[in-house]
Amino acid sequence: EGLKMKPELIGSIDNGTSSTRFLLFTPQGKIGASAQVEYTQYFPSGEDKSGWHEHDPVEIWESVVTCIQAVLKELEKAKIKDRPIAAIGITNQRETTIAWDADTGVPYYNAIVWDDLRTTGIADEIAQGNADRFRGKTGLPLASYFAGTKVKWLVDNVPQLRQDLRDREKSSSVRFGTVDSWLLYQLTGTKSRAQGAANFNGMFATDVSNASRWLFLDLKTVQWDQGLVDAICSPHKVPLSALPTIMPSSHHYGVCQSISEIQGVPLTAILGDQQAALFGQCAFDAGKAKCTYGTGLFLMKNTGTRQVASTHGMLTTVAYQIGQKGKVYYALEGSVSHSGSTIQWLRDKLNIIQSAPESESLAKGTQSNEGLYLVPAFAGLFAPHWRSDARACIVGMTASHHKGHICRAALEAACYQAREVFEAIVADSPFDLKSLSVDGGATENRLMMQFQSDMLDLTVIRPEVGETTALGAAFAAGLAVGVWKDLEELNKLRAIKEKFQPSMDARVREKNWQGWQKAVSRSLGWID
Ligand code: G3P
Repeated sequence: EGLKMKPELIGSIDNGTSSTRFLLFTPQGKIGASAQVEYTQYFPSGEDKSGWHEHDPVEIWESVVTCIQAVLKELEKAKIKDRPIAAIGITNQRETTIAWDADTGVPYYNAIVWDDLRTTGIADEIAQGNADRFRGKTGLPLASYFAGTKVKWLVDNVPQLRQDLRDREKSSSVRFGTVDSWLLYQLTGTKSRAQGAANFNGMFATDVSNASRWLFLDLKTVQWDQGLVDAICSPHKVPLSALPTIMPSSHHYGVCQSISEIQGVPLTAILGDQQAALFGQCAFDAGKAKCTYGTGLFLMKNTGTRQVASTHGMLTTVAYQIGQKGKVYYALEGSVSHSGSTIQWLRDKLNIIQSAPESESLAKGTQSNEGLYLVPAFAGLFAPHWRSDARACIVGMTASHHKGHICRAALEAACYQAREVFEAIVADSPFDLKSLSVDGGATENRLMMQFQSDMLDLTVIRPEVGETTALGAAFAAGLAVGVWKDLEELNKLRAIKEKFQPSMDARVREKNWQGWQKAVSRSLGWID
């Protein structure tokens, strides 16, 4: 019904770590139609491949095509004849790195996923004992998480890529990109890879928010810094031409070419998924914050046009830029690697639940954690610890515990980790926050959201549109084509679905918190 009434829709391509979505939003900020496809997670096996995580870039692209076609079919069924999509935005899992050959559109290697640990050694080596060596310029610690270390690994380990980079003529065809750039390239290319095309000629660009996740960006100038690229990729020479052109988040990137159903539709936004969620929560100004529970968990505070340096393990990152003339906004971010993926692990590896929602019903069958804690340091611990030597553990088990307690501990773990990063952000940049806006799949879990409110001792606010990441990219895309006039207009679209108020006794909160900290100390230093 909504689709028939609102002729002007805004599309959002959302490639997350676990799945791809395509959504159409109405000018009222409501979801008109959507499709989702889960794609394959590759965890290469072998002693020397522990902690590896890859995606097939072609499968990611195909998942985008599938979702777009499914949504367009839905539109057709709703009898809207001339595809009324005003613009499309792209939002993406950040840092996941792809190298490809622009002549053929063929990747040199699988995408190395952001939480992949293979570049820990590279990061340590560059750090020379000081992981904060480039923090002043980049806002980031040296860690496997960031795209730059993955570029170095790819050049070290993929002979064809290394050879092409060394070849004077061929080197200009080498592309390194995060998923946004890969998708932009595919969407704007005039021939699809399936046709085995030469002269593929898709666009090669990224936005300021994604660019801030490489360790290659000077946060002040918002430009690539050849000195940083050289220091990280040494002894290899990676020219800046192999990196995407940096553009504002809301900007006319180009038009869709390769998918006939959306041919000619302008692509007018790119935002890293966490920054998109911040934008979708209408946290446009300094002092606004949000927490997104996706595959990982990311708490972000907008610091306005100021870059706030962290001394508590947070990242200083670009939040967004609207148009060439727009100011660059920055944020402080606490990145936690495992949240939804812990629940996926219970489902796919331990098989103790059939579906994610079952974790809530099983957890409800327990009174409390009864002393059991799960620290999901599957990929070491990210913020605020940045300890790649940590590994996951379950501690405090007695014979009376059952799988319900393990589910509860997994849900609670995300809430404890959100508190850890929340406290670190407050320490870096004090603010008087009375409530925290949350989004992402897990916010449907009411038990977890109540526990989050209890652990933070704050009101937790869940918005009407749970797909805040996709909404944020749609907002940025719609702004560029005038569907919405300004941020004020977007602010008016914000609707709250539910609020959770803290109700836990202070002593119980403290006991839980201490238990968690003790559990974390057990996970640290597990790997020599
Ligand atoms: O930095 C990684 C992040 O962008 C991944 O987000 O939603 O896939 O957990 P998500």
